[in-house]
Amino acid sequence: MKTRAAVLWSTGGKWSVEELDLAEPGPGEVTIRVRASGLCHSDDHNVTGDSQAPLPVVGGHEGSGEVVSVGPGVDRFSVGDRVATFPMPACGRCRYCSSGRSHLCDLSARTMMATAGENARFRFHRGDVGVGAYTQLGTFSEYTTISVEQAFALPDDIPFAAAALVGCGVSTGFGATRRVAPVSPGDHVVVIGVGGVGAAAVQGARVAGASTIMAIDPVPFKLEQAVRFGATHTAHGIGEALPVLREVSWGAMADVVVVAVGVMHGEMLAAQAELVAKGGSLVMTAVAPLVETTVALPLTRFALAGKSLVGNLAGSTNPVADFDEMWRLYRAGQVQLDEMVTRTYSLDQVNKGYEDMHAGRNVRGLVVFD
Ligand SMILES: NC(=O)c1ccc[n+]([C@@H]2O[C@H](COP(=O)([O-])OP(=O)(O)OC[C@H]3O[C@@H](n4cnc5c(N)ncnc54)[C@H](O)[C@@H]3O)[C@@H](O)[C@H]2O)c1
Ligand SMILES: [Zn+2]
Ligand SMILES: [Zn+2]
Repeated sequence: MKTRAAVLWSTGGKWSVEELDLAEPGPGEVTIRVRASGLCHSDDHNVTGDSQAPLPVVGGHEGSGEVVSVGPGVDRFSVGDRVATFPMPACGRCRYCSSGRSHLCDLSARTMMATAGENARFRFHRGDVGVGAYTQLGTFSEYTTISVEQAFALPDDIPFAAAALVGCGVSTGFGATRRVAPVSPGDHVVVIGVGGVGAAAVQGARVAGASTIMAIDPVPFKLEQAVRFGATHTAHGIGEALPVLREVSWGAMADVVVVAVGVMHGEMLAAQAELVAKGGSLVMTAVAPLVETTVALPLTRFALAGKSLVGNLAGSTNPVADFDEMWRLYRAGQVQLDEMVTRTYSLDQVNKGYEDMHAGRNVRGLVVFD
């Protein structure tokens, strides 16, 4: 079938919306009509070259939609089913899946490193040219064909927009404080960077009962939004945050610090680590340029204070269990997802959406499909 999709052809280029051929679903695959796709910063890292997904690639990895066609052997979904997607597959059989760490599923390497499907088969083509799908989802497209291991049943009462966000940014930020470095009632928490990921981390800290939630972002609009999601304190930078945090925590500093800036750099780490309490955790969520391999960190002070530096992949989310929890929190009004969408865009406006992200105008921008 034909589909219109936003394709990145070269590093430093723009998303080009064009008509592609989409493969019918193979064994274990479904084709979905995409209904919403969030503008996560991670797609943009491929544009700048910070990340290096094989090109050309259809962007979009934070989406939701409806099943329009099922491949051979698929018994989990039928035509018409609503689905949320997730960048990490969960095979249910590997060592990681079977020990409750499905975000590290052995199949993940497949989606992170390669944008083509099983046997390097491309699901999108323009003429003879195979076009990849970012994290094998490619949700900046009217239709996409994906593995059932990346699709999860979506209840009828959850809007496609909210579900899309949960497909990456919300799970990553919420999971940072729920699973990666679980926040306890009364904890002091700092969230650095209030995009989709950071706004969800603020909410995760609130739901967990943190007593202090300090949001740090240079953009005043983001700080206003952070307060809306539960931040108790705000600062425009770490320098401004340190004395306030010291005072409210009686010198202890933050039990959990979530780093969710747009682009991480190694030299930022030392100042971030200063925010962390003895025995606390610095949750590295933001993506740095792939070529950067050095960091600045006063190691002895870090070690003797028993601090942890922990990587965050998609909030350690197990989509089967955690999406269901998220829908319950959303229904109960404990997590605000609709409020995170600052602006919506058509597929043709995807570059405009990323322009707005860089200008700090959105907590999250969302591409919606009619
Ligand atoms: N680890 C994962 O699984 C995972 C998943 C999703 C996104 N990410 C990454 O997380 C990061 C955040 O994603 P997002 O979509 O929320 O990005 P975003 O661009 O929407 O938000 C980033 C925010 O950080 C702020 N910021 C920039 N520099 C800052 C600084 N020095 N101090 C404080 N705030 C600063 C910006 O103003 C912005 O509000 C990105 O690097 C993204 O690629 C990682
Ligand atoms: Zn697995
Ligand atoms: Zn993402």
